[in-house]
Amino acid sequence: MRHLIDPMDLSVEEIDQLLDLADDIIANPKEYENACAHKKLATLFFEPSTRTRLSFEAAMMELGGNVLGFSSADSSSATKGESVADTVKVVSCYADIIAMRHPKEGAPCLAAMKSDAPIINAGDGGHNHPTQTLTDLLTIRREKGRLDNLTIGCCGDLKFGRTVHSLIKAMSRYSNVHFIMISPEELEIPDYLKEEVFEKGGMSYEQVRTIDEVIDRLDVLYMTRVQRERFFNEADYVRLKDTYILNMKKLKNAKDDLSILHPLPRVNEISVEVDDDPRACYFRQALNGKYVRMALILKMLESAKGE
Ligand code: NCD
Repeated sequence: MRHLIDPMDLSVEEIDQLLDLADDIIANPKEYENACAHKKLATLFFEPSTRTRLSFEAAMMELGGNVLGFSSADSSSATKGESVADTVKVVSCYADIIAMRHPKEGAPCLAAMKSDAPIINAGDGGHNHPTQTLTDLLTIRREKGRLDNLTIGCCGDLKFGRTVHSLIKAMSRYSNVHFIMISPEELEIPDYLKEEVFEKGGMSYEQVRTIDEVIDRLDVLYMTRVQRERFFNEADYVRLKDTYILNMKKLKNAKDDLSILHPLPRVNEISVEVDDDPRACYFRQALNGKYVRMALILKMLESAKGE
C-alpha cells in the first residue's frame, strides 16, 4: 500500500502528474464532483491546524466524498492513553484514507505500519509536511511557469519549520535551483538537512542573515513563522519572533515578478500592507492547497483500489 509520509516518497514524475491533475481540477471542477462518492477521509489532527485540515476536508467534499475525524488530541482517546498505533488501526476500519498530523516526528510513519488504509502525513513535528510542499510546488509552477532555474529565499524559522524542510528536499530534484537560507544563527536549517540535501544532494545554497542583502536576486521568497510551540523556552521565542518583518520598504529592490509565499498562519513576519501587492501569493497558495489535496486523494484512492 502507498502512503505519503515524506515528500521523497513521490517521484518527480508522480509530482508532475499530481500538479497536472490539480491544474485540470482547477480548470474543470465539475468533472470531479463525484469522483470519490461513497469514500471517506478521516482527518486525525493531534496538533492545531486551520488550512491543512479544512482544505483536506473541503477537498474530499468537492470530490463528492465524506469526512470524519477529530481536530485536537483532547477530543480523541489519546487523552485516555490510547497509542497512535491503536487509534490508526481502528480508524482504518472506518475510513478509506487518513490524513494525520502529530507533534511527534515519525508518528505518521509508525501509523502507516499499522494502518489498513493509506496514510497521508499532514505534518509531523518539525520534520515533514509533504502536502504543504505539493501546495508550494503547484503555486510556484502556476505563478512562475516552472520548477527549475529559480533562486528561492527561505526566511525565518528554518530550524523548526517543517514546510521548509520538505520544500528543499522536493526542490533538490529540479535543475538549476539555488536556495538562499535567511535566518538568525539559532534558527538555521538543521545539520542533518544541510548534509542530506545540500552537501550530499549537491544542491546549491548559501546562508545569510538579512533579507536586504539578497532580495534583488530572488524569484521566490518563502516566508515562515517562528514556531513558538517547538521552542524549549518562551524567552528565546520572544527574542527571535520579530527578527524578520517583510514590508513594502523591504520590497523596494525586489524583482517585479517576485513570488512571495508563506504556508500561513502569519504572525508578524509579513505586514498586511504587502497583501495588496500582486507579488503576494500566499492566499492563492492556500487555495491551491485544496486543489492539490483533491488530486492527491484521487490518485491515492485509485492506486489503493488497484492493489
Ligand atoms: C504550517 C505547518 O503546520 O507546518 N502551516 C500549514 O500547514 N499551512 C506552517 C506553520 O504552522 O507555521
